[in-house]
Amino acid sequence: MTTTTKFAEEAGTSPNTPVVHLDGVGKSYGNVHALRGVSLTVRQGEITCVLGDNGAGKSTLIKIIAGLHEHTDGTLSVNGEERRFSSPRESLDSGIATVYQDLALAPLMSVWRNFFLGNELTKRPFGRLDDRRMKRIADEELTKMGISIPNLEQPVGMLSGGQRQCIAIARAIYFGAKVLILDEPTAALGVKQSGVVLKYIVKARDAGLGVVFITHNPHHAYLVGNHFVVLKLGRVALDTHRADLTLSQLTNEMAGGSELEALSHELRGVDAGVVAEPHDRPGGI
Ligand SMILES: Nc1ncnc2c1ncn2[C@@H]1O[C@H](COP(=O)(O)OP(=O)(O)OP(=O)(O)O)[C@@H](O)[C@H]1O
Ligand SMILES: [Mg+2]
Repeated sequence: MTTTTKFAEEAGTSPNTPVVHLDGVGKSYGNVHALRGVSLTVRQGEITCVLGDNGAGKSTLIKIIAGLHEHTDGTLSVNGEERRFSSPRESLDSGIATVYQDLALAPLMSVWRNFFLGNELTKRPFGRLDDRRMKRIADEELTKMGISIPNLEQPVGMLSGGQRQCIAIARAIYFGAKVLILDEPTAALGVKQSGVVLKYIVKARDAGLGVVFITHNPHHAYLVGNHFVVLKLGRVALDTHRADLTLSQLTNEMAGGSELEALSHELRGVDAGVVAEPHDRPGGI
């Protein structure tokens, strides 16, 4: 056992290096406190799942790391250095790639153009786009990751949501991202496509990236996650490693836990098995 591993085990933490660390981060939009006192550690080679109900603050949290919004309290550190991003470019330049549910790719452009979007290769001496080289590399990289897209000239808008997510993940890995943030990548997908995207999330982890996987779905999170953070009303309600959490505990936490108990108390008088008779409505269906 190496000293680092031993030390980390003694401290009860993972041996991997934290790439992003948030300490006591808060964000207000006017009077709305979207986040309060949020601390989060993202480590290389790990999948950190951020879960929470609608409006819990998940997107706000990633927008701070992605440079879209600035935090109003606390600190954000990348590789141990305190940072405050004022644009998405700054976050990207620090090795943080963010994949948004719908905005990840340009739907009318071809697969290979999307792969190189913002990082186009050019030919010397006139700086014309090097289409051939871009097509070849996009083809090689997607094949390497086992993503099969028969025609790279196809506009991305014609692909399935799952294929689009996979291209965005492959692109982040190829361009050397250290951190990959995915905002609800499986939310709009069916079971099979979700499975494919989860597989590529694991590939990103195996390539050594620190992955932040935002989801509503505890089952998806538990299939791949090393570390789970549940946000509730802008605060951290749970922050636990896989070894200390079962799927049913995570599901219960997401289903509302004690709030669900209170709800079942409220609904005690309701007979859930009843099938109501249709009422005649004037002029209605
Ligand atoms: N630009 C904004 N201006 C004002 N309030 C905002 C803004 N963005 C988010 N909020 C508020 O901050 C809170 C957290 O929103 P956020 O989008 O981060 O939640 P979320 O967990 O991503 O929810 P969802 O699961 O619905 O995507 C909500 O109360 C929301 O209304
Ligand atoms: Mg959101």
